[in-house]
This record gives sequence, structure tokens and C-alpha cells, in this order.
Amino acid sequence: MAGLFVTFEGGDASGKTTQIGLLADWLKEQGKTVVVTREPGGSDLGNELRDIVLHRRGFIAPRAEALIYAADRAHHIHEVVRPALERGEVVLQDRYLDSSVAYQGAGRVLDPSEVREVSLWATEGLMPDVTVLLDVPADIGLARQASEERAYDRLEAEALEFHERVRDSYLAIAQENPDRVVVIDGTAAIDEVHRAVLERVSQALD
Ligand code: TYD
Repeated sequence: MAGLFVTFEGGDASGKTTQIGLLADWLKEQGKTVVVTREPGGSDLGNELRDIVLHRRGFIAPRAEALIYAADRAHHIHEVVRPALERGEVVLQDRYLDSSVAYQGAGRVLDPSEVREVSLWATEGLMPDVTVLLDVPADIGLARQASEERAYDRLEAEALEFHERVRDSYLAIAQENPDRVVVIDGTAAIDEVHRAVLERVSQALD
């Protein structure tokens, strides 16, 4: 495929949105056409599914939760991401399948490799060219969120221990996929993180 697919991963409040914005501006200055998108959400159906999976009151069975994320992903990739990549554009995406492996797999009770397989089936095997992992210790992430004073979604409301498992899972994914995943210290200053992101993404553009 002609375009470039870059995903951003990390705990809640790890700075993904800020960094995606800065990278999008830089890419546009380089004359690239950029699509900024996210999961869950990123399509009309996706926004309906996002509302269910993040804000529905009451229990959602772990496998049902994993399948809702996978359904969102399947539709989003089919409708938004693949067409953009086929047009040769750069897609910057807030969260992708590593989120499912980390949150539904390690964070919950499901087998991470099964969760990954479900996602790959949903997307017909589409993998990112580059994944930026903004690494922030779970306690710092939770403290950042608390200072934002907004309502927690279903996953954010989980205990510290859950977020620690999510972080460990992300780091394990990075270790297993060194060519795809770059780990950047998300506690560093915004412009320092941005420089590290640029270094990796400009390599991929060459
Ligand atoms: P989002 O609203 O994008 O928040 P943030 O700014 O923290 O990234 O994230 C939505 C939540 O959905 C987040 O807590 C992680 C969770 N999530 C999963 O559990 N599995 C997934 O596959 C995805 C894409 C997100």
C-alpha cells in the first residue's frame, strides 16, 4: 500500500492527542495529506460503538467488550483507513490493535494472543508501519487524568493495578516488535517527545 500508517499507543493521558496534532502539522508542512483518526470511533458506526463500550452503565462481558472494539476496528479500517492508505495518504491513528491486546488481553482476563488474532481477522491483517508508544508510569497517568477533572470512562475507572498490567503489556509488545514499535518517554517535555516522534516517522517516510 502506498500510504503510511502510524498508530499511537499508551495509557490514558499519555499525551497521544497532543503528539498526533504536532505530527500532523509537521507532515502538512511537508506537503503530505494527513488523516487523523481514532479508535474506538473514527466512523459513524464507530462513534455509536464507542458510546456503548466506554459509557454504557453496567457490566459488559470481557469477550463482548473485545468484540465491540474489534467490530469498531473492522468497520473503521474498511471505511476510513484502507481507502486513505490506498490514496497514498498518511494516517495518524489514536489507538489500534495493541490497545486491545493490552487492555482486553493483559488488563482483563482474555488470552492476549487470541485478542490479537480477533483484531487481525477484523482488519484482514492490516499492521501499522510505525507504532509510537508513549510510555508513562500508571500512577502518573492516573494523576494526570485526575487533574483534568473530567468523568472517567469505563476503562479509566479501573484500579491502578489494571493500568500497571496495561503498561507492562505495552512494553512487552514493544520488545517483541522492535522494528515497528518505538518507545518514547511520555513524561518528557512535549517538544522533546515531538522530536523523538519526528525522528522515527521521518525515517519511515524516506
Ligand atoms: P480514548 O477515549 O481514546 O482515551 P485516551 O485519550 O485515554 O486514549 O480511549 C478510550 C479507552 O478505550 C481507553 O481507556 C482504552 C480503551 N480501549 C480498549 O480498551 N481497547 C481498544 O481496543 C481500544 C482501541 C481502546
